[in-house]
Amino acid sequence: MIPTPWRQRLLQQAQQRSALGRDRSIQPAAGVDFCSNDYLGLRRDPRLAQAAALAAATHGSGAGGARLLRGSSPLHDELEAALAAWKGTEACLLFNTGFQANATLLPALVAQGDAIFSDALNHASLVDGCRLAKAGGAHLGIYGHGDLEDLTTQLSTWRASAPPGALALVATDAVFSMDGDVADLSGLVALCETQGALLLIDEAHATGLLGADGAGLAQLQGVHGRVPLVMGTLGKALGSFGAFVCCDQLLRDHLLNTARGFIFSTALPPPVVAAGLEGLRLARLEPWRRERALALAQTLRTALGQPPQPSAIVPVPVGPDVEAVRLARSLQAAGFDVRAVRPPTVPEGTARLRITTGAHLEDGQVQALIRALHEHSD
Ligand SMILES: Cc1ncc(COP(=O)(O)O)c(C=O)c1O
Repeated sequence: MIPTPWRQRLLQQAQQRSALGRDRSIQPAAGVDFCSNDYLGLRRDPRLAQAAALAAATHGSGAGGARLLRGSSPLHDELEAALAAWKGTEACLLFNTGFQANATLLPALVAQGDAIFSDALNHASLVDGCRLAKAGGAHLGIYGHGDLEDLTTQLSTWRASAPPGALALVATDAVFSMDGDVADLSGLVALCETQGALLLIDEAHATGLLGADGAGLAQLQGVHGRVPLVMGTLGKALGSFGAFVCCDQLLRDHLLNTARGFIFSTALPPPVVAAGLEGLRLARLEPWRRERALALAQTLRTALGQPPQPSAIVPVPVGPDVEAVRLARSLQAAGFDVRAVRPPTVPEGTARLRITTGAHLEDGQVQALIRALHEHSD
C-alpha cells in the first residue's frame, strides 16, 4: 500500500513521539488510586448512584437536546441554584465539561481590542480559550506564574494604549492542576477591582476541598462572593461529571446567549446532574472527606520535604521524561496507581509524577507509598 500524504505525516509524528518517549496510551485502573481527581471518594458512593438511577427513571437517561432546545430539566435548574448559593454568587450556568466552559467562555466575553491576561501555568482549556480569543483579535498577555507584579505591569502597559472602553480579563487556575500550588486570589481580586478588570478563576481542583464549607479557594482566602466568574467542575471532588460557571445574572445571560460551548451542545444527562447534586450535598455534609484528603496530601508533602499547600495534588519532580515514566512504572508494579506527566502537559524538562490523595485512602497506604517512593527513586 502506498502511504497517502496524511498517513505519512501521522506516521512521522508517531515516530517522533515515540523517540522522545512521549507516547500516550490509555492504561486501565489498577492498584491503589493515587492519581484520580476523586478527592472526596464520592465517585463510587452508592448515594450518587441511587440519585442517578432515580433521575434516569424520572427524567430519562439523556437530555435529548441542548438546554435551549428542551434539554433542560428541573434538576438542571436545581443544581445551578445550589451551586450559586454555595459559591456565593447570584447565578450559575452549567456547561458539559470544564474544557468546554473555559475554551468557549473566554471568546464569548473578550472581543477585538480587549485583552486577556493568563497565568503561565493555567490549564490547557484556559490556554485554548485564550487562543480563540486572540484569534478573534484580543490582546493576549501571559504573566509569570503567580507573578502579580508582572501582571500589574502588563495590565498598565496595555491599558496605556488600549481603545477607550476596552475590557481586560484576568484568568487563573485557583489550584494549579500539575503543581498543586495555589493562586493569590485576594491579591488578584484587589488588583482586578482597582483596575476594573474581570477576574475568572478555575476552581476545578479547589471545589469541594477548600474553605470552611468546601466552596473553594475563594472561600479559603476570604474573597468568597467577590470573584465575578468562578468556574468549577463536577467530575472531580463532586464525583459526577460536568462543569459550571458561577457569576451574576448579567454574566449568566451573556454566556447563555453567546458561549458556543453552551449553546451548541446537548445538555448534561439528568442522571449526571442528579449525581452532581448529591455529590454537592455530601461534600458539604461530610467535611471529614476534604479534611482527610488534605491531611494525607500534607503527610506526603512533609515526607517529600515539600512546603505545605492547601491542595490534594502533590507533584514529585523528576525531570527527564524517561525517568518519570520509569519511576511511575516501578511504582505501578508495586501496586500504586501513579502516573507520569510529561510535556506538553508540563514545561520541557519538568516531567513528574502527579500524585493525588483522596478520602478513600488509608493511612497505611500513604505510608507504603512514601516508603516505595524512597525505595524506587535513585
Ligand atoms: C484546572 C482544570 N480546569 C479544567 C479542567 C477540565 O475539566 P473537565 O474535565 O470537566 O473537562 C481540568 C481537568 O480536567 C482542570 O484540571
